[in-house]
Amino acid sequence: MKNLFFVALLALVGLQAKAQTVSVSKALFRQGDEMNWAKPDVDDASWSEIDITRQWDKQGFPRNNHAYGWYRIHVNIPKSLLGGADQQNVVLFQLPKADDVDECYLNGKLIGATGRMPTDPAGYFCGVDFVRDYPVDVKKGGILWDAENVIAVRVYNRGGSGGLFSRPLTISSPRAADGLSMSLTEENNGRSHCDVEISSAYASAAGGTFVATLTDRQTGAVISTLSKKLSIKRGRPMRVSVPYDKRRMCLLTATYTDTKTGKILSESKQLKYILTPAAPVTPRFNNAPVYGVRPGSPVIYRFPVSGEKPMKFTSDYLPEGLQLSESDGALSGRIDKPCELTFTVTAENARGKASQKFTLKVGEHMIGLTPPMGWNSWNCWGLSISQEKVMSSTQALIDKGLADYGYGYINIDDGWEAEERNLDGTIEANAKFPSMKGMIDWLHERGLKFGIYSSPGETTCGGYLGSLGHEKQDAEVWNKWGVDYLKYDWCSYERVREQDNDWGFASCMRPYLLMQKFVREQPRDIFYSLGPLGGTQVYLWGLYCDGNSWRTAQDINDTWASILDVGFRQQAGKAQYSSVGHWNDPDMLVVGKVGWGSSLRETRLTPDEQYTHITLWTLLASNMLIGCDIAQMDEFTLNLLCNNEVNAVNQDVLGKQADRVFKEGDIEVWSRPLADGAIAVGIFNVGDKEQQVDMKSLIPAETTKTVRDLWRQQDLTASELVCTIPAHGCRYLKVFL
Ligand code: GLA
Repeated sequence: MKNLFFVALLALVGLQAKAQTVSVSKALFRQGDEMNWAKPDVDDASWSEIDITRQWDKQGFPRNNHAYGWYRIHVNIPKSLLGGADQQNVVLFQLPKADDVDECYLNGKLIGATGRMPTDPAGYFCGVDFVRDYPVDVKKGGILWDAENVIAVRVYNRGGSGGLFSRPLTISSPRAADGLSMSLTEENNGRSHCDVEISSAYASAAGGTFVATLTDRQTGAVISTLSKKLSIKRGRPMRVSVPYDKRRMCLLTATYTDTKTGKILSESKQLKYILTPAAPVTPRFNNAPVYGVRPGSPVIYRFPVSGEKPMKFTSDYLPEGLQLSESDGALSGRIDKPCELTFTVTAENARGKASQKFTLKVGEHMIGLTPPMGWNSWNCWGLSISQEKVMSSTQALIDKGLADYGYGYINIDDGWEAEERNLDGTIEANAKFPSMKGMIDWLHERGLKFGIYSSPGETTCGGYLGSLGHEKQDAEVWNKWGVDYLKYDWCSYERVREQDNDWGFASCMRPYLLMQKFVREQPRDIFYSLGPLGGTQVYLWGLYCDGNSWRTAQDINDTWASILDVGFRQQAGKAQYSSVGHWNDPDMLVVGKVGWGSSLRETRLTPDEQYTHITLWTLLASNMLIGCDIAQMDEFTLNLLCNNEVNAVNQDVLGKQADRVFKEGDIEVWSRPLADGAIAVGIFNVGDKEQQVDMKSLIPAETTKTVRDLWRQQDLTASELVCTIPAHGCRYLKVFL
């Protein structure tokens, strides 16, 4: 019997005096999914043996996406486990990590789950990186003492490697200190502070000493130290609030030492710091002084002007066919013939006024004269997007002032489509969007534009209806609704290529050319954004499909590894493919609260990494689509996205994307020429250690008049050009030649 095998394996690790732990590293395994397999009495004699410290595909089982696998472990749990323990009421089951979601059953009863299965009503949520500690009540948890127990673990793998990995399963009777955990949460609005919370999972109290130290990362000086004695019980977490100055680069180190066991919990956190100076209260135009539209298409443009509200917008002369809203600077109307119209717009508030000489270019190829700025729902809400969430982010975009910096597109991604087409083949939105047209009208009234998502395949990447066979109808419906941007994502179109056994460029371009025809036939301007296509290089031919932008990398996520790959590795050498109205798109932004589903989390990028992300993306003349919930955006993220000098590089009318001009070790320099004759330069430290850098030697110019720090909006002195760049950090310069 298999069971014997496992009993032998169970060599109870140190069941003497104190260290009370049972450790198991082998299980029985089967791919597939049947909830029945959670039950203790299932016949698993024919299942395969597996090592639970390594993913299943690394042990000869098929590597497949969207796959389930079940592990069953037969284990004797001795009552002596509780001997000498200071927690008599709980046994802790510590599982290996799972790639990437798990549910764990003990003798048929669910004892814990991490991440969310795709079938969960709240939507799939990846759980790879989380610790799996499942406490079980000694009396009510269903443990069979001194007898065989069956632990069944259901694992779902979304893509790549799958299954349990990283360490053996352990079963132990924990000490009070083992149930302690520490978390650090930052509040960056108003008076900034970081709250350290220490909580206990177990009933008996733990006591110890807490120390928090705040250091200045630039000088190394200790700013403050705080020390406290704490006693922590289950259900009564202790919270210590550490105030900090958000204009300084601070590191917080929090340490808790348990008195009884000497166990130490320690966390360090780079705190969010704001470099962008406060905007003046007087009006300031934050846009490129040019906008393009096709003849006869509706003009939908909102002058982005920061400064105290209310503000009044006027124009010296307004060409016939255009209207300018006095209260919010929304420009509307239409111009039927190709032309260039230049006029001066003035914004005035109680503190002063500012004017801008502005040119409206009317012509056939005038869409996207500068990269699109706005918001997209995917990186935050994933498939759980709804009309309510769109409107809440839009309202916040206006209220928090992002619209005053040019963020003007509100784009929904996948998840808006009805389950089936109407009898006449037209598409509709699902119940989460009770009035698509009403919502879009509401946006247009505010001078904002609306974007939608679809795929040339039968289904989208999220499994919703795609446009295959209905391209014309879809373009017409979108026109009726008032769509201004289409993200057209490859997804299931691969199946069509497979059927046709046609793998050339032409087969990639075909569906994009087809949709291009219908999109361009509509009497409105639809920014045409092409999605990433597996291994194929859309940037080589996107221009010939009249794409206004195309993805130059696969999907981004909120990790440094992703920024390094998607941003640095995959964009180097691609500047040649970008031009005015046809931009490279390395994917949407991952700052703020993101999550790809219904529950959001703070981005996992450190503040330094977020500065690097925005610096690189603006240099790359990339689409600047915010990927977080704007309603929950804090001051830090707002300042990161609303630095007018930084954004001006992205929106520069010369439209020349930066490329990598230097790389030595971990230091990379990316630069681009600007319309005013200056150059923008990003100096990045992509390594894991801080580095001393002489920036003067890296600036690709012989003589320099002024070197400006774009984040701080300050001109630098010669001595300031020698600096330390933190790990994953950068400096962003504008060099006047
Ligand atoms: C693909 C795209 C993402 C997103 C999803 C939606 O993965 O690359 O940006 O649009 O599809 O399903």
